[in-house]
Amino acid sequence: MKGYFGEFGGQYVPEVLVPPLLELEEAMGVYLGEPSYQSELDELLANYAGRPTPLTPCPNLSKELGFTVRLKREDLLHTGAHKINNTLGQALLAKKMGKTALVAETGAGQHGVATATAAARLGLTATIFMGAVDVERQKMNVERMRLLGARVEPVMDGSQTLKDAINEAMRYWLANQKSTLYCFGTAAGPHPFPTLVRGFQSVISQEALASYQKLIGRPPDLVVAAVGGGSNAIGAFAHFIPLLVDLVGVEAAGSGEEGCHNSAPINLGRPGILHGQRSMLLQTAKGQVLPSHSISAGLDYPSVGPEHSYLSSIGRVRYGMANDREALKAFLTLTRTEGILPALEPSHALGWVLANRRQIPSRSEVMICLSGRGDKDLDIVLENLGSVE
Ligand SMILES: Cc1ncc(COP(=O)(O)O)c(C=O)c1O
Repeated sequence: MKGYFGEFGGQYVPEVLVPPLLELEEAMGVYLGEPSYQSELDELLANYAGRPTPLTPCPNLSKELGFTVRLKREDLLHTGAHKINNTLGQALLAKKMGKTALVAETGAGQHGVATATAAARLGLTATIFMGAVDVERQKMNVERMRLLGARVEPVMDGSQTLKDAINEAMRYWLANQKSTLYCFGTAAGPHPFPTLVRGFQSVISQEALASYQKLIGRPPDLVVAAVGGGSNAIGAFAHFIPLLVDLVGVEAAGSGEEGCHNSAPINLGRPGILHGQRSMLLQTAKGQVLPSHSISAGLDYPSVGPEHSYLSSIGRVRYGMANDREALKAFLTLTRTEGILPALEPSHALGWVLANRRQIPSRSEVMICLSGRGDKDLDIVLENLGSVE
C-alpha cells in the first residue's frame, strides 16, 4: 500500500493536511526525476555542501579494537551534519513548486540551521519551531539560525522538545500552505516525508559503497548509525540493505537507569500513531505518549521513522542501545584517539560499537556514520565530563 513499510508508515493526518501532502507527492513525481533538478542539486551538494565526504580510517582506534573502523564523515559537510543533504533537496523542490518560504522543526538545532542555510542560499524565508528546552540546551544553534535570517519560534507546550516543535510546525504549515513547504527534518512523519528524506540521505550509503569497492573491493561487514527520527541511519543503510552487510541502528537509552526516560521506541516501545505515521512509539499502557529523554537533543524523540520499525520487524536491521554515559565515553575516546570531536548523536553509534566490541569478529570492516560534529555539544559534554573521566 502507498506510503507503507509493512504495517508501518501511512498518512494519519486530519483531512485538512491531505491537500498539501498530495501537492508535495505530486511535485516529487514531477521534479525529482528531472535532469535539471538533479544537476542543480548535485552542484549544490558538491560545491556548496562539500560532497562527497571522505571515509576516514581510524588507525589508533582500530588497533585498540582489533577490527577496522572507518567513519563516513558527514560532520565535514557545510553546517556540520548530514541534515544539509535533505534541506538542500527540499529547498530546491520548494523553489520548483513556486513556494517562497520554508517551515521546519528542530531538536538539536542542526536541522534548523541546515534549513535556514538552504533558505538563505536559495532565496526563501525560514520559520523554525524549537522546543523551549532545546532552545536552552542548544543556544549556539539558535543564534546561528537567527544570524542566517530565520525566525526561531520557541515552543512552550508539552515537554518543550522536538515532539512539540513538530506539532507547531505542522499547524503553521496548514495555515500557510500556499506559500510554504514543510521542510521535514527526518525520515519520519506522514507519507511522503519518510520516502522523500530517505531519498536525499541515501547519498551517504551510495558514496560509502563506492568508496569501499574502490578501497577493499567489497562492502563493509557492519554498518552502524545512531537513530533519532532515523534519517542518517536510513541514508547510511539504504544501498547496503540488498547486500550481505550487517546493519545496526543505535537508539538512545537515556541515563540507562531502570525505568528512566529514554529515546528507544524500537527497543522499548510498541506500535502507535504520532505525527501522522504508524511506527514504534514510547507510550503508556493506555496509549499516552511518554516523554523521551537523551543527553543528545537530536535523538530525543519518542517515535522513529516507519521504515526502521519495518526493518526491525523483518529482522533485516538490528537495533541496539547506548546510554548517555556510553555516548560520553565514546565522545572522549574518538576525540583522544583520532582527534575528531563527534556530535553526541553519532557518539551513541560508537558507544554501541565500544560496548559490543567482543561480538565483532577481528579483522571485520566496520563503518560508523559520523552524522555530525561535536561543537554544538561542548557545553553538555563539559558539564558531564566528571561522570566519565
Ligand atoms: C548530528 C546529528 N546526528 C543525528 C541526528 C538524529 O537525526 P536522524 O535520526 O534523523 O539522523 C541529529 C538530529 O538533530 C543530528 O543533529
